Amino acid sequence: MIDGKVKINKHLDLNRLPTHIAIIMDGNGRWATSRGLPRNLGHKAGCENLKKIVQHIYDLGIKYATFFTFSTENWKRPKEEIDGIFNIVRDYLNEDVNQFVKRGAKVVVSGEYKKLPDDLVRAIDNIVEKTKDCDKFILNLAINYGGRDEILRGVNKAVESGKKLETQQDFSKLLYSADLPDPDFIIRTSGEMRISNFMLWQMAYSEFYFTKVYWPSFSPKDLQKALIDYQRRDRRFGKV
Ligand code: IPE
Ligand code: IPE
Ligand code: MG
Repeated sequence: MIDGKVKINKHLDLNRLPTHIAIIMDGNGRWATSRGLPRNLGHKAGCENLKKIVQHIYDLGIKYATFFTFSTENWKRPKEEIDGIFNIVRDYLNEDVNQFVKRGAKVVVSGEYKKLPDDLVRAIDNIVEKTKDCDKFILNLAINYGGRDEILRGVNKAVESGKKLETQQDFSKLLYSADLPDPDFIIRTSGEMRISNFMLWQMAYSEFYFTKVYWPSFSPKDLQKALIDYQRRDRRFGKV
């Protein structure tokens, strides 16, 4: 996390922010390519932006944030790119662990992260352990995460328990996000209008926001613009 004093847009109501915001950080590759840079420099810039946006979400007072960092489908990418992404995430977690503790920010994970390279697993275990008693802000990293995988895993857990699930809530408790409320607001950058296997169960009543801006260029100002859009919506949840 980094310090950043950002001006608050006068149209943004700080009393009506989402409890849980989730972001599909897309467009790192195209951000780099459009500048004649290798894709991994896009991931590096994307990670710098992640720090900036995490800090801004924290400053705004939003309690929960999920960031889609690596999907179960991203294994289909070239090994060099995958290794690059993992190294960038590992360095970020190792460098910033003390900042998280200092700010009372907890890190949790959605996804089969134990299947990631050892050094990244260690970095994740370390930050999760060191921040486990923090409760001012919860950062959920979706890494080696897939929504269908998560649902399948939940179904298997239910079967193994041998008990019939009575409520939807019972099933939510079997997911990685058991301790998190469903996301109120989901943002996807880079212009793609799809979900790409993200939080399929949890997004039943999420509000969506798509922007053409590539993730490394998505600024705190863009975030505030998205939040103002969110605040103009009428969330009916099936009621009139
Ligand atoms: C998002 O950016 C980061 C990950 C999926 C890890 P991309 O790498 O997908 O960027 P584009 O979509 O190719 O531009
Ligand atoms: C979704 O982006 C995954 C992450 C942001 C980590 P992708 O770039 O992998 O999605 P597709 O392939 O365009 O659907
Ligand atoms: Mg992409």
